[in-house]
Amino acid sequence: MFYQMLAAILQALLIAQMIHGQSDKEVLVQLKNFLQVQNPINHGAYVSWSESEASPCHWKGVGCDDAGHVNSLDLSNSNIAGPLFRNFSRIMRLTHLNLSSNSITGELQDDLKQCQSLQHLNISNNLIGGILDLSSLTNLQTLDVSQNRFQGRIDRNFPGICGNLTFLSVSSNSFTGRIDKLFDGCPKLKHVDLSWNGFTGMVWPGIERLRQFKANNNNLAGRISPGMFTEGCKLRSLNIAINSLHGSFPSSIGNCSNMKFLSLWENSFYGSIPPGIGSIARLEELVLASNSFDGIIPMELTNCTNLKYLDISDNNFGGEVQDVFGKLTCMRSLLLQENNYTGGITSSGILQLPNLIVLDLCYNQFSGDLPSEISSMKNLKVLMLAENNFSGKIPPTYGQLLRLQVLDLSFNSLSGEIPPDIGNLSSLLLLILAGNQISGEIPREIGNCTSLVWLNLAGNQLMGQIPPEMANIGSNPSPTFMENRKNPELLESITSKCVAVEWLPSSYPEFNFVQSLMMSQKNCQTIWNRLAMGYDVLPISSPLRTALGYVQLSGNLLSGEIPSAIGTMKNFSLLLLDGNRLSGHLPAEIGHLQLVALNISSNFISGEIPSEIGHMVTLESLDLSSNNFSGALPSNLNQLTKLSRFNLSYNPLLSGNVPSSGQLSTFDEQSFLGDPLLSLNVTAGSSSDSSPREFSSSDTEEHPTNEEIMVTTIAFLAFFSVTLLTREFHIFMYLYFTASRKIANCRIICT
Ligand SMILES: *[C@@H]1O[C@H](CO)[C@@H](O)[C@H](O)[C@H]1NC(C)=O
Ligand SMILES: *[C@@H]1O[C@H](CO)[C@@H](O)[C@H](O)[C@H]1NC(C)=O
Ligand SMILES: *[C@@H]1O[C@H](CO)[C@@H](O)[C@H](O)[C@H]1NC(C)=O
Ligand SMILES: *[C@@H]1O[C@H](CO)[C@@H](O)[C@H](O)[C@H]1NC(C)=O
Ligand SMILES: *[C@@H]1O[C@H](CO)[C@@H](O)[C@H](O)[C@H]1NC(C)=O
Ligand SMILES: *[C@@H]1O[C@H](CO)[C@@H](O)[C@H](O)[C@H]1NC(C)=O
Ligand SMILES: *[C@@H]1O[C@H](CO)[C@@H](O)[C@H](O)[C@H]1NC(C)=O
Ligand SMILES: *[C@@H]1O[C@H](CO)[C@@H](O)[C@H](O)[C@H]1NC(C)=O
Ligand SMILES: *[C@@H]1O[C@H](CO)[C@@H](O)[C@H](O)[C@H]1NC(C)=O
Ligand SMILES: *[C@@H]1O[C@H](CO)[C@@H](O)[C@H](O)[C@H]1NC(C)=O
Ligand SMILES: *[C@@H]1O[C@H](CO)[C@@H](O)[C@H](O)[C@H]1NC(C)=O
Ligand SMILES: *[C@@H]1O[C@H](CO)[C@@H](O)[C@H](O)[C@H]1NC(C)=O
Repeated sequence: MFYQMLAAILQALLIAQMIHGQSDKEVLVQLKNFLQVQNPINHGAYVSWSESEASPCHWKGVGCDDAGHVNSLDLSNSNIAGPLFRNFSRIMRLTHLNLSSNSITGELQDDLKQCQSLQHLNISNNLIGGILDLSSLTNLQTLDVSQNRFQGRIDRNFPGICGNLTFLSVSSNSFTGRIDKLFDGCPKLKHVDLSWNGFTGMVWPGIERLRQFKANNNNLAGRISPGMFTEGCKLRSLNIAINSLHGSFPSSIGNCSNMKFLSLWENSFYGSIPPGIGSIARLEELVLASNSFDGIIPMELTNCTNLKYLDISDNNFGGEVQDVFGKLTCMRSLLLQENNYTGGITSSGILQLPNLIVLDLCYNQFSGDLPSEISSMKNLKVLMLAENNFSGKIPPTYGQLLRLQVLDLSFNSLSGEIPPDIGNLSSLLLLILAGNQISGEIPREIGNCTSLVWLNLAGNQLMGQIPPEMANIGSNPSPTFMENRKNPELLESITSKCVAVEWLPSSYPEFNFVQSLMMSQKNCQTIWNRLAMGYDVLPISSPLRTALGYVQLSGNLLSGEIPSAIGTMKNFSLLLLDGNRLSGHLPAEIGHLQLVALNISSNFISGEIPSEIGHMVTLESLDLSSNNFSGALPSNLNQLTKLSRFNLSYNPLLSGNVPSSGQLSTFDEQSFLGDPLLSLNVTAGSSSDSSPREFSSSDTEEHPTNEEIMVTTIAFLAFFSVTLLTREFHIFMYLYFTASRKIANCRIICT
């Protein structure tokens, strides 16, 4: 009897389970159909769900409990677009639901709010909008709704979802409302991420109970009270960067002895750095940049024996660099940018820090010679001394920094020659010496910098020829890129404020696009990291060239011909040689470069414009203005269909017709000023109707007046006829084309 009863009970259980199983399976089949209808083109793993299988428990992304009930569903990254499925709540035992990284739209359905057994819900990285109200999900342990389009307040969720909640991320939405008391009823909360929203009010006073609190990029205001950090403080990571917090920062932070990461970046904190920080022996990263901290750096900081990253950029520190920095022996990145430091680089001992990889002293008031001690910092990868008043020569011994990838010495008062030893820097990716008084020739050894893909020597007094060896720069950056892929942690810590934005020349196509992407601080680091690892700017395949290489030699005294070897350069997008004294012909080989921008304006380049330029189909900006080009305008320039900026002005010997159709016809007279022999195939009134694209000249450029053009023209003609016999041909051409232009004009008038 007993056994019969037991059997009956067992059977009943089995049937119940089968019914359950079946209904779970039914719902999943509904889900599969729903998803297939919603997403006719791209499918996720759910397409493999086979109805012929008795139990769905082995279907991809589906998990079951011991009794065979479906309890977890992972549809992350499954190409799902369109609104949410409305029957999740019919899977009675569902505890884990992962819909992250899809393109789900619309608002949260009542259905989801009824999934009462849910413990882990991840709907991050979708396009879900509306109000977030999941207050009925009282069993939630982790909730991730980051990277969506939610808006409004989140208070209605609390304390409903709070009883068991340990992890909450609502990052990167448009949430608003005060957060002062939000989590008071959440006893188990450990990780909270509120970053990148519009939250207001003061920092929630309970943060010390958490392991991690992220609220960067919101509108939080007010002070941080000393009572916020007591002896029990459990925080390991606190990020309240980019808010409007103010006041002095309490020294009681020292109670958070497990803290590894602290960022107060871009607030209005003032006063001295709290000495209590010295009690946090585990601290690894301290970001205090862009506040108004001042005074003396507390000696207690030397107790932070694990400190690897310190950024106090853009505060009110000044005077001599204190020796406290020189005692932080773990330091890998030291960023003192934009303060008022005047000296102490050597005496502070920072140049002896054995592990230093990144040293940023830009925008201070350092003067005198560049410290030669830097030469022995063998681990250094990034050295930024720009925008100070360093003078004297670049020490040749900097050529010993064999791991150096970034050297920015721009806008100082440096003089003397570029030491040939620069060629020993085979890992160098970026070299910026712009805005100094550096003279002499560009050393041929620079060609040994085979990783160098970003070179800016503009605004110096460099003279002589461009060495043909320079064509070898950037010929093989792969080893450096590979090193950065293997060891990315360096790059991730270059700076909180994205200096990389300043490393790309603005106002040129592609570069401009990348820069505008980088302007968002969120993207900046990612993009710089991608560039430094040799990846494309965007993770999806795009027309952007990987390296975005550039060479900028503008505003020097360089002379002679542009070497034809330049045509062998690879992966360079931008060549800016304007404002020099370059002469001779433009080598036809330049047509082999896949440039997006070429600027050789304001030089003395003569001869014909090589028709090979017409093969540079990637060109978007071409400036040949203010040179001595002669001969006929190559008609195939009209094939440059991407050209949006074009300047041929002030080449008085240039002749021929500007075609009235095709790409060149989209430019107005501004592109052809001072080219008297060019027949602008445009009637007087038509230029305004045809909405020509404007040529935006670079900021500093000034166009010569008519008188100047006449004088130049006459001077050229005199020069040619006197010095070179062959130039007589040009005079002939001049006369010839003047005549033909008259004929052309006549035709315009007559028709
Ligand atoms: C949800 O379930 C109900 C009841 O079984 C059914 O009528 C409806 O079609 C289902 N919805 C979807 C989208 O499959
Ligand atoms: C949610 O999914 C995303 C992937 O889209 C992942 O990065 C994140 O860590 C997940 N959240 C949790 C709490 O596991
Ligand atoms: C959800 O999926 C993402 C991506 O596959 C994964 O990173 C995450 O850990 C999963 N689990 C949860 C609970 O979010
Ligand atoms: C937390 O979860 C446990 C087990 O799932 C449950 O028994 C308890 O009621 C939950 N607590 C709250 C406050 O919801
Ligand atoms: C730690 O917190 C207590 C109050 O709980 C406070 O009196 C003390 O000064 C704090 N310690 C430090 C190092 O700030
Ligand atoms: C720094 O460490 C020393 C001993 O290593 C200790 O005496 C001192 O109190 C510490 N200072 C702070 C602010 O924690
Ligand atoms: C830096 O020093 C100059 C004078 O040397 C002063 O005018 C300026 O206000 C100081 N800037 C800061 C941020 O302290
Ligand atoms: C920079 O240093 C030079 C001397 O090397 C000095 O003449 C000049 O005044 C300094 N400029 C500034 C802005 O301090
Ligand atoms: C650079 O390399 C050359 C040739 O190998 C060598 O003579 C020179 O000493 C090196 N310069 C430095 C600073 O190491
Ligand atoms: C560096 O360049 C110079 C001149 O171009 C060349 O003679 C020399 O061999 C190169 N040195 C190395 C180490 O490649
Ligand atoms: C560099 O150019 C070569 C040859 O033009 C090409 O094969 C390669 O993909 C380019 N590399 C990068 C990183 O763009
Ligand atoms: C413009 O020039 C082209 C040939 O270069 C010629 O066919 C066309 O008639 C000209 N148009 C005008 C308006 O002169």
